[in-house]
Amino acid sequence: MNNNEQYIGVFDSGIGGLTVVKSIVESMPDENIIYFGDTAHVPYGTRSREQITQYVLNDVKFLHKFSIKAVVIACNTADAIARETVEKKYSQIPVFGVVEPTSKKAALSTKSGKIGIIATNATVNSKAYEKTIHKYNEKTEVISLACPLLVPLVEEGRFHKGDKVIERVLNEYLTPLKEQGIDTLILGCTHYPLLYDIIKDIMGEGVDVISSSEAAAETLKNELSSRQLLKATKGSERKYFVSDNAEFFEKQALIFMGDALGGKVQHADV
Ligand code: DGL
Repeated sequence: MNNNEQYIGVFDSGIGGLTVVKSIVESMPDENIIYFGDTAHVPYGTRSREQITQYVLNDVKFLHKFSIKAVVIACNTADAIARETVEKKYSQIPVFGVVEPTSKKAALSTKSGKIGIIATNATVNSKAYEKTIHKYNEKTEVISLACPLLVPLVEEGRFHKGDKVIERVLNEYLTPLKEQGIDTLILGCTHYPLLYDIIKDIMGEGVDVISSSEAAAETLKNELSSRQLLKATKGSERKYFVSDNAEFFEKQALIFMGDALGGKVQHADV
């Protein structure tokens, strides 16, 4: 297989990484993609660094069985905790994440200098976003909030506007953050873009809501292009694997991705 015809390997703890796949498909529709969702172990964000690192190494090992030209860590938690470990172990493959591109975008676009981040416990505790945002703009004030209830609800398919439970939970999390006067809100978990419309309604017009999934796909495209790794031929192949129930995942994935899913979901023993 020609280098640029190879797959982009994408992984997350569950359905969240599909928000990155969706952004990749929108901007690079002809790329071949292998996706792995570690649904047997979701959520990652409430676990220890050691446990998250172990899961992440297993995820990359699985993707590495295929002919891949890049690894995309489509999970803020995995990126914040285990990025360096993955880069060391798989130094021959370019590894892309979500924290760096999202931090850069927010740091360069805020006007008031007050940025809010919602993410998992592990991402918030790692301070990865604060550190990276300050690298690009040291004058910003960063307010981080862990929202551990959101990932389990999204995994259960509770991501639609009008769902009273998710709307109530989001209102409780976001109202105090809104009152602090931020002008930018980072969705620092790839599950959260599924909640974009509800979040945008709560935060209102004055707050720019930045999806880590879109920022990651934009950077991925630029990087693949500069390394001459963009696929040049038409048509794409997409394969999806999960470590738990494939049918349930496929149902949720189809609701969210529609035609963009473009492939079957299979179970994989990892
Ligand atoms: N979607 C992930 C993230 O971006 C992980 C959520 C989880 O498993 O807790 O952080």
